[in-house]
Amino acid sequence: MLRADQSATLTLRADQPGAVISREIYGHFAEHLGHCIYEGLWVGPDSSIPNTRGIRNDVVAALKNLQIPVLRWPGGCFADEYHWKDGIGPREKRPAIYNSHWGGVVENNHFGTHEFLDLVEMLGCEAFVSVNVGSGTVQETQQWVEYMTSDAKSPMADLRRANGRDKPWRVKYIGVGNETWGCGGNMRPEYYADVYKHFNTFIKNYDREYRIQRIACGPNGDNYAWTEELMASAARHMNGLSLHHYTLPSGSWSGPKGAAYGFPETQWFTTMRNTLIMETLVTKHSAIMDKYDPQKKVGLVVDEWGTWYDVEPGTNPGFLRQQNTIRDAVVAGLNLHIFQKHADRVTMANIAQMINVLQAVILTDKEKMILTPTYHVFEMFKVHQGATSLKLDLKTPDYVFGAEKLPVVSASASRNAAGKIHLSLVNLHPSDAVTVSTTLEGVKPGAVSGRILTADAMDARNTFEAPETVKPVAFTGAKLAGGQLTVTLPAKSVVVLEL
Ligand code: AHR
Repeated sequence: MLRADQSATLTLRADQPGAVISREIYGHFAEHLGHCIYEGLWVGPDSSIPNTRGIRNDVVAALKNLQIPVLRWPGGCFADEYHWKDGIGPREKRPAIYNSHWGGVVENNHFGTHEFLDLVEMLGCEAFVSVNVGSGTVQETQQWVEYMTSDAKSPMADLRRANGRDKPWRVKYIGVGNETWGCGGNMRPEYYADVYKHFNTFIKNYDREYRIQRIACGPNGDNYAWTEELMASAARHMNGLSLHHYTLPSGSWSGPKGAAYGFPETQWFTTMRNTLIMETLVTKHSAIMDKYDPQKKVGLVVDEWGTWYDVEPGTNPGFLRQQNTIRDAVVAGLNLHIFQKHADRVTMANIAQMINVLQAVILTDKEKMILTPTYHVFEMFKVHQGATSLKLDLKTPDYVFGAEKLPVVSASASRNAAGKIHLSLVNLHPSDAVTVSTTLEGVKPGAVSGRILTADAMDARNTFEAPETVKPVAFTGAKLAGGQLTVTLPAKSVVVLEL
């Protein structure tokens, strides 16, 4: 246990509101990769698995419960070899293609533009479409946007009507290329900045009322020169600049990354450490963006984040399937806190990926579906969506491991439109509880209630045989007395309190 003098202190300043927490920070990402789209979302209308126009009913119900604000599609690296016209019209006539990035499998194009936007409408979320810059053309992008969003009498709108959709869809976000510094074309930032402006010029606002938000491809991790160049030469043409950062226990793309479960404490520690790098990345990229965009018109869009482990033994290495444990739940809580802390600049984030791939919120196996510990964090944290962040001052003890250390407690607070205050707390220590003594300023709550997600083992997880091993339960470790809130956080826990 931690020594008594190592408890944390927190001051919640309810009278010092900060930025509104964009709902889109709770966004998701679904790529044509492994069983994210096929089997995860799409089973086809003739499947014995209950579905609506081919999309799984159980998965849609679970996702709706998260109040998903935005969904990014079709990739990822896949986006830069995706030609949207392959994915429209009668399904039996759509060409099959080779998915060169992910598992070398045949992509039958049965899930295309209509199916994606149908899913978006079922979920009641915003669409974020990544267009093909790497192997596509400006004309292809221009026509895709026209196909999806134009109500005019025009060739692409008419083609959409001929394919069964009369009214245009609402597409709020267009991503112009993915990882153009890597799988999207291996470009230099100077070159891509021009390519971005070229493509962007031909992305038209067919719907005058509902203008498209344009997201430029941003840096890989700590490539600050990329951000500098994009902001210097293209900031006024964009609404968002993306950032990708994955958490690998090993911290390296070469060699083993680390197992999803059955790992030693060393890898618990490095996973937490490599997650908290996000704070540095967001802070430093934001500082560069501030130089060129002091009014914060351009959002930092962390459109790929999450854990990346060695694949589940026995699965296709190109499918990136991995289990999800209480460690992932803690990682999710830490990242979401970082995004909320920087709510003035971070306008969207998309966990990679929604189903069956990397840090998924849902795993499926044929007709079966389970919710992962990460799902539960998104569900518990949804109270922060669209709420106003509140200032916190936190003094936390450290988790010391060998010669290194990390802050044990992470926290975030917000006030929603109904005036309710929510305080979320994470204890990243794998074996020690911590007490957080909280002073409340500007609020005198009559009561406190909450839920906790925790587990005994570092790699506790939900399986198809035991799907409810890790799930939130009522939290009894918070006490209010004389304007002071005392919270005892068990080891490896995520807590959300309502005041
Ligand atoms: O999410 C998996 C892959 O990771 C994406 O396709 C790519 O953008 C990133 O490298």
